[in-house]
Amino acid sequence: MSYKPSFSDLFDPLVAEKVKKSDFGGLKPENIEEIKKTIKYPEYFGTLDFNEQGKYSNVKNVDGAKNDKGHLGDASFKNLFPQNSKVKTFDLSPNFGTEIDGIQLSELSDEGKNDLALFLETRGLAVFRNQDFRDKGADFAKQFGEYFGPLHIHPTSFSAENHPELLVTFRPEGGEERYAAQFAGATNTANWHSDISFEEYPASFSFFVALEAPPSGGDTVFIDLREAYNRLSPQLQQFFETLTVIHTNYYINEFAKLKNVPARIKADYFTEHPLVRTHPVTGEKALFFSRGFIQRVKGLKPTESDAILNFLESHVTNNPEIQVRATHKGTDARTVIAWDNRFLLHSAIADFLQHKTSARHHYRITVLGEKPYLDTEKTSSNGHSNGSNGHSNGNSSNGGST
Ligand SMILES: [Fe+2]
Repeated sequence: MSYKPSFSDLFDPLVAEKVKKSDFGGLKPENIEEIKKTIKYPEYFGTLDFNEQGKYSNVKNVDGAKNDKGHLGDASFKNLFPQNSKVKTFDLSPNFGTEIDGIQLSELSDEGKNDLALFLETRGLAVFRNQDFRDKGADFAKQFGEYFGPLHIHPTSFSAENHPELLVTFRPEGGEERYAAQFAGATNTANWHSDISFEEYPASFSFFVALEAPPSGGDTVFIDLREAYNRLSPQLQQFFETLTVIHTNYYINEFAKLKNVPARIKADYFTEHPLVRTHPVTGEKALFFSRGFIQRVKGLKPTESDAILNFLESHVTNNPEIQVRATHKGTDARTVIAWDNRFLLHSAIADFLQHKTSARHHYRITVLGEKPYLDTEKTSSNGHSNGSNGHSNGNSSNGGST
């Protein structure tokens, strides 16, 4: 079966015609001012400004591996989980993902942020409740993110007005028409990806700040690509370590053109990354399989590339044992989700479209990481599941698991 890069069916004129007519679930340029009147955080609503076209570029984070804040983190996380505080943690699975309540991210010291980096690099995903983040303003958000590295400016996605570093995602509340339109030509909308993997220096951390969220539904689901690598036979691991994969934003740029969305950065990238990468802080290996942006395997014949990419898609996405769901739990839960893109995939879940819920509105701070590399000297281990230094089950000594 041939492998289709995500959004590549836009080159079918019938699909392209449908996409042109569709309306982002109500999000059209002429609707923006109307929608702003109905939402809680209009200052974080997306803009479509053609004056921004071609105005930006992203930095090359050449020292990203060396400068990663996780190197400075304390393995006991004593600065993230202060003694005698009322922090509650709950592991979403033994392998990765932890819910945390009782920490205010905006008040973390630099040492606390270093521990947070190391925590994300160990547990992969953290779901923070009751955060004041969204009320601190865009300048605070950028300052917070910049502590961890340079911030990414997305070439085509919506962003907060005058703050291109804050990517905005918005889905209006559900309704029968939206449901019918969304699923008329597809059985699901999952788009598994690692944020901006088409960049030469893709993301380390993403901070996803809920502005409004449905009480249930609209979760983000995550996949642990360390475990996906560890489950393979040694022979296949070794073979995959020889492969280079091409990641591209070409198809999402085509989508943006069809939708008449201006491009802040006008460039089609075809970027080579190793299929297996080493984490610069933990030394763990992970499959770097960002389905949403991968076009092909470099140097292989099309049928060979297709067979490998189809196998990887099935191996990675069809296994609930390596997946967890991060819930947003409604607007009042004030959730901030943070993760390490270097070894996690994720996808939003469109399970609320037929229900009259609130809108799903977030902004994302995306930190640039290092250029992906494979260190063949280092061997991967399963140490993340119950790590030898005792920190990776995420349950801090002072906070009882809920
Ligand atoms: Fe994403």
